[in-house]
Amino acid sequence: MLRKIEYTKENLSNVIITKIFRCPICHNSIKISDNSLICDKNHCYDITKKGYVTLLKKNKLRIDNTYDINLFKNRTEFISKGFYSELHSLLSQIIKEKGTSQLIVDMGCGDGTHDNIILNLINDNQTFIVGTDISKVGIECSTNYVSNNFIPLVADLNYMPLKDECTDVILNILSPSNEKEMNRILKQDGIIIKVTPKKEYLCELRQILNIKEYENELQIEKNINKNYIILKKYIINEQKELDEESMLNLINMTPLSKNYDCNKNIEKITIALNVYVLKVSNQCA
Ligand SMILES: C[S@@+](CC[C@H](N)C(=O)[O-])C[C@H]1O[C@@H](n2cnc3c(N)ncnc32)[C@H](O)[C@@H]1O
Ligand SMILES: [Zn+2]
Repeated sequence: MLRKIEYTKENLSNVIITKIFRCPICHNSIKISDNSLICDKNHCYDITKKGYVTLLKKNKLRIDNTYDINLFKNRTEFISKGFYSELHSLLSQIIKEKGTSQLIVDMGCGDGTHDNIILNLINDNQTFIVGTDISKVGIECSTNYVSNNFIPLVADLNYMPLKDECTDVILNILSPSNEKEMNRILKQDGIIIKVTPKKEYLCELRQILNIKEYENELQIEKNINKNYIILKKYIINEQKELDEESMLNLINMTPLSKNYDCNKNIEKITIALNVYVLKVSNQCA
């Protein structure tokens, strides 16, 4: 079995992947050279032993304690147990219908578990996912998937280290977004798949924490409508049984319950999501 760094080097050397990066500092092209990515002006970004690369505009990591290692590990376990299986089937179906050999960029991929499952379902060895997140610990967790056409990058979704019009599909799952950057990196026939919470998402957890339901579902849709053509909208609304271990994963996988002293049981959990398939409207391009 290869080491993680070897998998990432192999993935970065793929003919599709090797052409897509640009230097976050000077915007020149980036090439792979030994264990680094180097731009035409010699800005150098090492491929770490764990198999990820940090491609940030400022070579400083923003320390964000909202999402820590414990949170990402619990996300990995909870997502791996199938609580999002309808979402995964839907996303892989949409991508497969678009075509083979797709370059997918996940903006705000966290621990990368959604991407790994989607890659397994797509099962096409020429489709790659570049997973990007500002959180170093999230991206470190996501390096478990480098043997599966997954390329982990610490990157800011407001300054994507990718060339213009290089991406077939953008995934944006429960994460912030930057329309300008999305439109810049997307190919003319590319699509954006944006997943947002419905009002009822995780309502049983919110209830025991005394937090109101998500209220801005309509406002989010208004903003999407302003900026994009909605090709399709799907709704996922499932209530799933929780065993004790999954309940603890759930409580620990979100910043909502930081400092929560677990004394009540949650027996069921609602996974309610809006899934938008979007195209850039000419007015915004
Ligand atoms: C709720 S989590 C969702 C993660 C993953 N998509 C999932 O559904 O499991 C939001 C993610 O957005 C990331 N994020 C926030 N601001 C970001 C930025 N400026 N650039 C890249 N990622 C960012 C966070 O680090 C976090 O991993
Ligand atoms: Zn440079």
